[in-house]
This record gives sequence, structure tokens and C-alpha cells, in this order.
Amino acid sequence: MSTPGNGQFADAESLSHHVAQQCEVLGYQTTQLSGNKNALMHSLEISNKGDSIAVQVKNHKAKTNIAQVCKFSEFLDLDSSDRFTSGWLISTSGFSKPALTHVRTERPSNLKLGTCTPYGIRWNYDPQNADLDARDSDETSCSQAGPNDQAITYIGVFTCKGGVGKTTVAAHLAGAFALQGYDVILVDLDPERNLRKLFIEDQSSEDETASLYVPAHRKGFTGSTITVLNAEEWDEQQYPEIKIVICDCSPVLNENPARFIRRFDYCLVPTTLSPLGIAKNGDVIIRTFRHIRSMNQQADMLTLINCYNDDGSFVRRNRLLLNALEKHIISYQKEDKKCELINPLDAKIRRNDNLLYWGFHIVDGTKPRLAFNEIFGRSVPRTDFLQLAEYLENKTTIRELKKTGDNQTDPSPSIEAAA
Ligand SMILES: Nc1ncnc2c1ncn2[C@@H]1O[C@H](COP(=O)(O)OP(=O)(O)OP(=O)(O)O)[C@@H](O)[C@H]1O
Ligand SMILES: [Mg+2]
Repeated sequence: MSTPGNGQFADAESLSHHVAQQCEVLGYQTTQLSGNKNALMHSLEISNKGDSIAVQVKNHKAKTNIAQVCKFSEFLDLDSSDRFTSGWLISTSGFSKPALTHVRTERPSNLKLGTCTPYGIRWNYDPQNADLDARDSDETSCSQAGPNDQAITYIGVFTCKGGVGKTTVAAHLAGAFALQGYDVILVDLDPERNLRKLFIEDQSSEDETASLYVPAHRKGFTGSTITVLNAEEWDEQQYPEIKIVICDCSPVLNENPARFIRRFDYCLVPTTLSPLGIAKNGDVIIRTFRHIRSMNQQADMLTLINCYNDDGSFVRRNRLLLNALEKHIISYQKEDKKCELINPLDAKIRRNDNLLYWGFHIVDGTKPRLAFNEIFGRSVPRTDFLQLAEYLENKTTIRELKKTGDNQTDPSPSIEAAA
């Protein structure tokens, strides 16, 4: 028999047999499903004392990602899945950090995530066992690298068009990284200073530093900080622990200090799929690409769909609009390969009222917070931004972000937990 490991089973079926054996050891009766494996959301059903569990196995080299976890979770919520009391998603290669952050924040009660090892299933997420998180001893601190190891990823959020979500995307992407244990710096390059307003409590204060503490979602860990600075305040030497800098740009290119634009490793170009704007948008996006490239030769320029409407009745319209947009981008790729349209299947930001009303505290004087609040236990923006963070983490060649993919690096253990 093949040895369990990253995609090392000959096929999902042999892995499924291996998992079935392990379930039998745990006292479950198992039924292997046959039929069109591609059409099946699960390959195994197991039962024990009234529990009926759908098991899906993933035998990929890449870690199981947040989109795959969301898909299995949605399958469990279908009426046709009513006969299952829960579902197990078993991977041979483990789970991406955003995928784990997603389940640990959302805490679905009917889903378990496990990694198949030669010695049995190692649970990564179990709703019945919150302590599991704190016990994961192979998870290390994000902030371990010293100043010499510093490798900062600069992410710019820029487009020549105003009001398409640059500030919203910059802030919530920072939130998604903070949820995963990174302290993040948000540099507010827009003279409007919207980010500052959105991150301070006392709007009349002249000198309050805009910041937000994002609590850890795991017992025994401390959370992370998001700090908003202006261009003059940011100095790499003063922040040796920082790995991620996100720049919220002004739509007027000349208003953004060139020294920041030159540092971008990635430039996210948010756009909406508004029909009126699509022809124009193509224009705006190409102009945006050219602007960035005139100052920065290395950045990957990534067009991100914001305010995406995933209601089923919009499928056709979305497809046509995306095709139109893609045409503009493909034609520009002839002169510049390092630009792309992010496939909404990989990452997109859905239109969401919580994002629309984000910043309401400016009006009602309450504490600043991100639009990650849950409704019936779910947060669409949080899922979308974790997926966007995952997309960037998969792309990045920066060592610190890459490393986390292998070791499931997580937030720093708190002082109490370490004692
Ligand atoms: N996915 C979304 N769903 C709902 N509302 C959104 C979404 N993204 C952005 N918005 C709303 O759209 C408006 C414009 O967003 P934002 O201020 O982030 O754009 P911007 O590009 O930074 O604008 P500017 O060019 O003025 O700096 C805000 O009211 C924001 O709350
Ligand atoms: Mg803005």
C-alpha cells in the first residue's frame, strides 16, 4: 500500500480505503461509495451510534484550501445532506492557514478537518474539542524571524478610478492577515486619510494613532495589531516584526509617494462588474497597469472583482461581463505578462451590506471595527478576505509567508500559555 503523504496515494480511491480502515479502528461502520467520483462530494459514509458522517478525502500535493473547505461545508448544509449528522474533510497534505483560520473563527458545528497520517487521523479542527487548537505544538510563532530575516511583502491597492473599494479592500485584507497572526501596517497614502478616520474612535482627536487589535480566535494565543500610518511615519527599521505592509492609494497616481509604489510586490486593482463601466473599466484598468509599471517593474498586478453578486440569477451576466473584462486584460498581457484578472473562483469580494455600512462608528461614535461581524455564525466578508489572503500567500515568493504554508504557523502563544 502507498504511504500516506502529500498526494502520494495512487488515487483518491486507495486513500479512501486507507481512511476507511482508520475509521473502522475508531469504531465506525464504513460504506465506500462507487459511481462517478467527480460528481460525488464525498467518497465514504461512516456511522456509529446514530451518527451518520459524510467523509471527503483530498489527496493533493497542495494543502486543502479555504474554497474547498467552504464547498464541503455548503454541501453539508444542503437539504439533500440532511441524513448526515456531520462531515469530515480528510486531507493528506493538511490545510492552508486561511482555511484553518476560517473554521476556527466560524466554528461550524457539523464539520471536522483532519490530516491523514500513517498513525491515524490527526485532527486540525474539531468543534467538540476547542482545546485542540491550543495543543497543536508544532505551530510556531509568526514573529520569530529577527530583523535580519525581515522580508516584508508590500501590497498596494490602487486603481485610477475612485470609489471602487480600495480602502475597504486594504483594511479588510489587513484584517484577514491579522486573523492569521500577522501584525500588519496599513499605510494611508490617500491625502483624504479615510483609513485613519475608519480606525480611530475619537474623530476630533488630532494625534490619536489609528489602530485596531484583532483578538486571537484560538485559546492560549494573543491576537494581532493593525496600525495605520501615513507615508512619513512608516520606517522599516522601526518595525522589525512586520512582515506585511498594505498601502491604500489615492486614485490620483501623482499623490502617492513613488518610493512606496516602487516597493509593491503585488498591486491589487479592485474593480466592479458594472455594465456601464466595463468598457470604461477596461480602459481604467489598462491605464492603472501602465501607471504602476512606469514606476515599478516587478509587481504582479492583480485585478480583483469587488462587489461581486453571486446570486444564482446573475450567473450569465457575471460571465459575460467577466469575459469582456478579461479580453481587455488578455490584450494588455501581450505587452506585460505580469498582470492578470483574478478568477472569482479563486478570490473575489462579494457585495455585502456589512462592507457597505463599514465605518458607521464614525457617525455613532462607537469603537472602530472591521466588517467581519457574524450573521447566524457566518461572515461573508471574512471568508472572502481570507480567501484573498490565501491567494496572495500561494503566489508569494517571500520566504516568511511561504514558510507558514508548511508549518501552519499561527499567532504567538500568550505569555500565560507559554508559562
Ligand atoms: N464588497 C462591497 N460590498 C458593499 N459595499 C462595498 C463593498 N466594497 C466597498 N463598498 C462600499 O463602497 C464605498 C466605496 O468604497 P471605498 O471607500 O473603499 O472605495 P475607494 O476606492 O477607497 O474610494 P476613494 O477612491 O474615494 O478612496 C464605501 O461606501 C464602501 O463601504
Ligand atoms: Mg479610498
